[in-house]
Amino acid sequence: MTDAPAALWNALETLEFPTLGALFAVPGRLDRYCTTLDLPGGPIRFDWSKTHLFPAAEAILARLAEAQGLAEKRRQLIEGEAINNTEGRAAEHTAQRGVGAPASVVEAEALHERMQGLVEAIHEGLFGEVRSLIHIGIGGSALGPALAIDALTRDGARVAVHVVSNIDGCALEAAFRGCDPATTMIAVASKTFTTTETMTNAASALDWLREGGVDDPYGRVVALTASPEKAVEWGVDDTRVLPFSESVGGRYSLWSSIGFPIALAIGFEGFAEFLAGAAAIDHHFIEAPIDSNVVVRAAFADLLYTQAFKCQTRAVFAYDERLALFPDYLQQLEMESNGKRVTADGQPLTRPSAPVTWGGVGTDAQHAVFQLLHQGTHMIPVDFLAIKIPGHDLDPLHHQILLSNCFAQGAALMAGKASDDGARAYPGNRPSATFLAEDLNPATLGALIAFHEHRTFVSAALLGINPFDQFGVELGKAIAKQIDAGDGEGFDPSTEALLAAAGLRG
Ligand code: F6P
Repeated sequence: MTDAPAALWNALETLEFPTLGALFAVPGRLDRYCTTLDLPGGPIRFDWSKTHLFPAAEAILARLAEAQGLAEKRRQLIEGEAINNTEGRAAEHTAQRGVGAPASVVEAEALHERMQGLVEAIHEGLFGEVRSLIHIGIGGSALGPALAIDALTRDGARVAVHVVSNIDGCALEAAFRGCDPATTMIAVASKTFTTTETMTNAASALDWLREGGVDDPYGRVVALTASPEKAVEWGVDDTRVLPFSESVGGRYSLWSSIGFPIALAIGFEGFAEFLAGAAAIDHHFIEAPIDSNVVVRAAFADLLYTQAFKCQTRAVFAYDERLALFPDYLQQLEMESNGKRVTADGQPLTRPSAPVTWGGVGTDAQHAVFQLLHQGTHMIPVDFLAIKIPGHDLDPLHHQILLSNCFAQGAALMAGKASDDGARAYPGNRPSATFLAEDLNPATLGALIAFHEHRTFVSAALLGINPFDQFGVELGKAIAKQIDAGDGEGFDPSTEALLAAAGLRG
C-alpha cells in the first residue's frame, strides 16, 4: 500500500534538517550529490551537494513520487498519452527530439525535414539575398529562440535574427533599424496564429516591407504554427508554412518549427545537435534510477525548499554572458507550468505551488542583489550555471575571474562567516546548486533546457498539478480585448480613471 501524500508532506515539513556544514561532515557527500553526465555537447557536472538533500528527506520524497505515480506520469508523458488532462491532450515535446510515441516521432521528423528544406533553400539563395530575419512571436514562441540565438551566435550567424515580442512598437522599430527590407524575411511564430501582439506586429512588419519597396511582402513571410490553415488564410503561401503538432505546448515548442530561426542562424546541423543534446537528457530522465537521476534530484531539492523551508522564490544566475536570457526562459517554463492553485483533478492545492523564479548574470548580480542572498531574512536557493570553456578570445584572466567568483558565491552562501558585529556577520547554511558544463554549444544548450523541462514536470507530478495548461493568462487578455473593442464598461473606479487618463475612453 502506498502512503497518503498529505502524511508524507507532513513528514517532510517536520523533518529536522542538519546544516549544510553538518551534512558535509558525512563522508561521501560529494560523490553522492554531484554527478557528471557525459552528454553529446561534452560533460555537464550537476552539483547538488550544497543543498539540504540528505537520505531521510530523499526517502520521503521518493515515497511521495511513488504515491503520486511519478513513474506512471512519466510513461504517459513520453508515450504521448493525454497528460494535459484539462485540455484533453498529450504534451509531446520529447517526440520532437525523437523520444516519444513512434507515430509522433515520425510526424516530427517529417516536419523537421520540411523545415530543413526551407532553411537550406534560404541559405542557398532561393529567396535572393537574405541577411536578416525578424522573428515575431511572444511567450513560448519567442523566449526559446531568443535564448538559443543569443547563446549560440556570439561569433556570428548565417542569418542575423532579431526576435521581437512586445506589442510596444519600440521593439519592432528597433528591429527595423537593424534591417534592410530588401534583404529581410519575417517569421510569424504563433502556435494559435491568433495572439494579438504577434498578429499586430506581423501586420506592421508587412507594412514596413511594403513601404521599403518590397513588391510581394507576403512572399517574404514564413509562418511557424500549429494552426497552418489560419496562416494560409492570413496570406502566407502554404509552401512557407511550417506546421507543428497541437500536442506541443507553447513553452515547450522551440524544438518544433518554432526553432526555425535557430536553424536559420546556426544551420540545420546545429539544430539537430540541439535536439540530440535534449534527447540525451530525455534518456537519462527515463532510464536512470531515482537516486542517480539528476532531474529527479533537482526537483526533490526544489520541493524540499518550497514545502519544508517555505522558500517563496528561487534564483538562477548564469555566470556566462551567453546565457543571459536563461532566467527569462526559465520564468515562463516554471511559472507558467507550475503556478497553479488547483490540482490536476480540480481540487484546491493546499500547499505552495511553484516558487517565483528570478535571476540574472554573474558577476553583475553580485554587485546588485547578492546582499539579500547573503544577509537578507529570506532563504533563497540559488542555481549557478557556468561553462568551462570561455566564449571569447580575450585574456583568459576574464574567465578565471568569472568562474572563481561563481564558485566563491556558492562557498560563501554555505559557509557564512561569524562576526561579533551583526552587520558584518553572514549566517551561512544557504543552499545552492551548480551546473558546470565543459562547453556551450547547441547540444549543451539543448541538454540544459530539457533538464529544466523535466525538472518542472517532476515537481508538478509530486504536487499533483497539471503543468501543461495556462488558463491563468486568459482573463487579462479577455479584458484587454473588451477594452480595445470599446465594450469594456463598468470596471472599478481606479481602472476607469486610468483608461480615461490615458485617453482610452470616449
Ligand atoms: O499567453 C500565454 C501564451 O498562451 C503562452 O503559453 C504562449 O507561449 C504564448 O501565449 C504565445 O502563444 P502563441 O504561440 O499561440 O502566439
